[in-house]
Amino acid sequence: MWPPGTYRSGSPIKNKPAFAARLLAWHKRHGRHDLPWKGTRDAYRIWVSEIMLQQTQVAAVIPYYQRFLERFPDIAALAAAPQDEVLRLWSGLGYYSRARNLQRAAQLVMDHHGGVFPRALDEIAALPGIGRSTAAAIAAFAYGTRAAILDGNVKRVLARHFAIAGFPGEKRVENRLWQLAEEQLPPRAIASYTQAIMDLGATLCTRAQPACAACPLAASCAALALGRVSDFPAPRPAKAVPTRATHMLLLLRDGELLLEKRPPSGIWGGLWSLPEIDDAAGVRAHCRRHYGCSIAAPQPLAPLAHGFTHFKLRIQPLVCEVEKLAPSARAPGQIWLSLEDAHGAAIPVPVRKLIERLLS
Ligand code: ADE
Repeated sequence: MWPPGTYRSGSPIKNKPAFAARLLAWHKRHGRHDLPWKGTRDAYRIWVSEIMLQQTQVAAVIPYYQRFLERFPDIAALAAAPQDEVLRLWSGLGYYSRARNLQRAAQLVMDHHGGVFPRALDEIAALPGIGRSTAAAIAAFAYGTRAAILDGNVKRVLARHFAIAGFPGEKRVENRLWQLAEEQLPPRAIASYTQAIMDLGATLCTRAQPACAACPLAASCAALALGRVSDFPAPRPAKAVPTRATHMLLLLRDGELLLEKRPPSGIWGGLWSLPEIDDAAGVRAHCRRHYGCSIAAPQPLAPLAHGFTHFKLRIQPLVCEVEKLAPSARAPGQIWLSLEDAHGAAIPVPVRKLIERLLS
């Protein structure tokens, strides 16, 4: 499965064209070299670019980056500016806490670092808005510091290349990815390598439709070898949704079914639905009180499940044959309809399914 000269997860084979070497060679020819923050080693300029790029695509960032740096050419200018002006220049990029943190961090650099952006990774990462990966990227680009990054793109590259199961938001999986990120670091050319792995994730190893045929890492990519590229990284696990239980009453009288109008807001707002009750023991009293009818013993039908975004509804249908209906029983918001007419009314899906059971 593994062509000679490649290596697999956790067991580097000697004399491989290493992960980093292949990435660097690819980047020389195919990477993005014309980005406006690439021509500088000024930590401030690199920092601003990395913060803007955290949640925003390169093409959208470029004009903002240029305007921002014209107005705030250095840390002192950013620290001294009115916050309104910082936010105005950020306006349209979104995630405004990034701009507020950036300015707060600039003020901290003025107060605690003599106006010079710190060099030590832990000092960089201690600034507001800068996590471990962004600190490493800034240090790699500005100072050539040999530190691993692990942003969303890099997580995807590594999770695929090493077929790492599990959701990367999970601590155990993330720790494993950090370890792999560190293991791949080349001895030199850290800035190029950092840009290369970012660019690979952004341009080839994309979430949907990755361009594996053009990928410099394809020969050793475990996910590709397994034919399971789209399985990595695993998506965020679906939250367990709560289940609510209800009984729906199919009140039948001379072939007609009772429907009740739902309140205008909330689930099924304004639709015609079946009467519901939490506790089956109270069905007969409930029917007498609310619908003016006495019923024969309720007959349960097979339960039905209906999924909403936030919960699952488990419906126990009860067929209730009406024995006697008080003449004064009609109330606004209640209607007796033939099964055919009920089926054609504005009713929720599970109610339609229940009526179809009665019709068949
Ligand atoms: N996303 C985050 N950092 C980036 C960078 N330096 N270049 C391109 N995209 C990025």
